[in-house]
Amino acid sequence: MREKYIVGNWKMNHKQEDISKFFEVFSKTTVGKNCHAWVAPQAIHLPFVLELSNKKCNGKLLVGGQNCCYEKSGAYTGEISPEALKDIGATFVIIGHSERRAIYKEQNSELCKKSSAALSCGLQVIFCVGETLEERESGKTEKVIAQQIIEGIKPLDKKSLQNIIIAYEPVWAIGTGKTATPSQAEDVHKFIRTLWEKEGLPNAHDLIILYGGSVKPANIGELMAQKNIDGALVGGASLKGEDFSALTIAN
Ligand code: 13P
Repeated sequence: MREKYIVGNWKMNHKQEDISKFFEVFSKTTVGKNCHAWVAPQAIHLPFVLELSNKKCNGKLLVGGQNCCYEKSGAYTGEISPEALKDIGATFVIIGHSERRAIYKEQNSELCKKSSAALSCGLQVIFCVGETLEERESGKTEKVIAQQIIEGIKPLDKKSLQNIIIAYEPVWAIGTGKTATPSQAEDVHKFIRTLWEKEGLPNAHDLIILYGGSVKPANIGELMAQKNIDGALVGGASLKGEDFSALTIAN
């Protein structure tokens, strides 16, 4: 049986008090035997979350960033250094979330550079892809995703690709309560795995592909039952310890 990855993307949410409450609940949770639980708090909270995770969770919760700079360090005021992320104990970073693509106009070429910097610092990269509603309705889903992978991932050093995870997040399903059906998600995941192989990228079979977009305890079971879905990238339902625990117990 393939292992599952449940990754909470906390986005720009939480105060320290909310995080403490999350840990009060999650620290008592027994994560499923097959499941890896990860969270990505906003950058300012990383040291706090890492401390709580180390003290209360005994290694069962890994912590990562939501974004990083395309350079390892240097004169980039306001940016997040991938080298510093690794140094404080983060193990992964999310790159190319649709909010960063849409709001901050991040392009595939820049996301490729960010991924390269993060990988070279020893971080795992969760690289996000996904189509808008308009693109889906005009039949462009596969074209858009292929372009995101070919421009964002393919130029990277092949050896480092074992540390890349893909998150398929249809933009129309994010924060809308409108989840892709398990078969819609499975179709795209299967497409991504096939594309990976076709483009000569290594280990298509082992590539971890997460689904994201309105995942919650009520629908995670049927999504995770799909052959090519290896986990979930979860926004809203990852914020509270109760919901996140339910997601990780179920897997
Ligand atoms: P929601 O789970 O709130 O739809 O957010 C998904 C997401 O964007 C995770 O990165």
